[in-house]
Amino acid sequence: MKVHPSGDRKRRAVAIVWGAGAVAGAAVMIGFSMAQPDAVIIGERPAVEYHLSQYDIDAGRVSLRELMEHGEMVFRARFNVLDGQGRPASTGTGDPREPDEPLMIRTSGPDANSCAGCHNQPRVGGSGDFVANVFVLAQALDPVTDSVSPEFSNERNTLSLMGAGPIEMLAREMTAQLHATRDLAMSEAARLGQPVTLPLVAKGVSFGSITCLPDGRIDPSEIEGVDWDLIVKPFHQKGAVVSLREFTNGAMNHHFGMQTVERFGAGVDPDQDGVINELTIGDITSTTIFQASLDIPIQILPKDGARRAAAIRGEGVFDSIGCTECHIPEFALGSRYFTEPNPYNPEGNLQIDDVPQPFAFDMTREGRFPRLEPGPNGTAIIRPFTDLKRHNLNDDELRFFANEQIPQGMINGFADPSLFTIEPYPRPTEEFLTRKLWDAGSSAPYGHRGDLTTLTEAIYWHGGDARASRDAFFNLSSDDQAAVIEFLKSLQVVENPPVRRVGGGG
Ligand code: HEC
Ligand code: HEC
Repeated sequence: MKVHPSGDRKRRAVAIVWGAGAVAGAAVMIGFSMAQPDAVIIGERPAVEYHLSQYDIDAGRVSLRELMEHGEMVFRARFNVLDGQGRPASTGTGDPREPDEPLMIRTSGPDANSCAGCHNQPRVGGSGDFVANVFVLAQALDPVTDSVSPEFSNERNTLSLMGAGPIEMLAREMTAQLHATRDLAMSEAARLGQPVTLPLVAKGVSFGSITCLPDGRIDPSEIEGVDWDLIVKPFHQKGAVVSLREFTNGAMNHHFGMQTVERFGAGVDPDQDGVINELTIGDITSTTIFQASLDIPIQILPKDGARRAAAIRGEGVFDSIGCTECHIPEFALGSRYFTEPNPYNPEGNLQIDDVPQPFAFDMTREGRFPRLEPGPNGTAIIRPFTDLKRHNLNDDELRFFANEQIPQGMINGFADPSLFTIEPYPRPTEEFLTRKLWDAGSSAPYGHRGDLTTLTEAIYWHGGDARASRDAFFNLSSDDQAAVIEFLKSLQVVENPPVRRVGGGG
């Protein structure tokens, strides 16, 4: 669905059936005219009283600081029925269902009141406790009322969003490299009239190889660790979502029943809760920018001398046993800018052609402290300890990370299945993106389900593709093992970063 930004042009007038569902029977119509910045509502009111217009953002009338502030307000907002909270007649994917109870349910959702309800460790935007786990994919079903069994959902732990802007940009730059290789193989195959195979390498990470046929089709059988559309999707531990914006549009509906104009359309009420235009395109731009401009995790060496020495030594040990083959310590970013929207967004999300020019900010000079590190000649340095590639950490002996049963989406990603010489299949349930470790000291509990309480247990379950480096770790002296752990603990989200001059330069 392509929605013109005019979807949020008109201030909305909301008529809501008071207590629809919440207080069945006691239906009284109340008319609200809201979203006027100057309209003061006395008494019950929505959590988000003022909605941003994408027109104002496109016209340059909204500063980075205002976007960050509005976005944080939306991220923290505990939505209520006056906002349009709830989705009695639709599932978490937006498919219709019989309007009925339950209003909120921990399994299939709506399962929370705010984004910050889960993303809050060590502060808003961060990771989450086991109690904030999500039963991913249950939201696609009619209410899953009495089971958290893996037949119905993939239970996942809340990830931190600190540094998510640079992560999205790293993925975009990797995608551009993979697409350039694909395009070259395609044109060479057409020119030579025979299949052409090229290695797929992005920022030094190998994704196998691609074979293009003269008839324009792709043989994807040697592509590794990324969808066949070669779009690196850095979000969801499965690598299923391309942008903060795509995630936000989904999460708003899944977790709260808040339906965004760009995903569901303007002036419609598909969830039959009596509220239309629940969140505007501008609201979603600001929520995206809030996440993208959060601070970057950094290394904080311990004050204690012995721990400090161990952390410094541990970094070398971590490298020497092969952990850095997947947990890649450092990449150069060609550009310092975060730009919104993402050019690879799938339909149902703001597209690059919908805006006169993308909203951009310099990740090394703007946003929250600590900021992204500048590199030479307009580049930047990102230290995420991931390769943004899917790996299988399971083998015959170690199968802890093989607990999921439901595939999350298809291996062709956003690409048309007919482009390929073989039938697309579901993304493998046993494979996960290499976990970013730049916040390992702040992200407990561990593992994709958050059911491991120490780093050592997470390392213990590294079988399959990581078996050699995992065995090397457990063959180390206990001093060396402890040094690796001390190193990982030094990678942190800063607890109380300076907040002044958030939108300002240098
Ligand atoms: C009920 C808890 C919960 C709520 C509420 C929630 N999240 Fe999350 N969030 C999670 C979990 C769990 C994951 C990891 C999902 C996975 O790996 O499949 C996650 C992952 C993410 C990611 C991807 C991070 C990454 O590195 O892969 C983004 C972005 C995100 N959430 C944004 C939001 C936004 C924006 C909201 C509000 C609209 C929100 N979340 C509400 C629990 C929650
Ligand atoms: C073949 C690639 C690969 C190698 C090599 C590898 N890892 Fe991992 N690592 C992963 C993947 C994938 C995950 C995500 C596991 C999951 O939760 O599904 C992960 C997760 C982790 C986690 C859990 C972090 C969290 O927040 O949950 C830690 C800790 C970790 N790795 C440390 C190490 C160490 C130490 C080494 C070297 C001994 C290592 N890894 C080698 C791929 C790898």
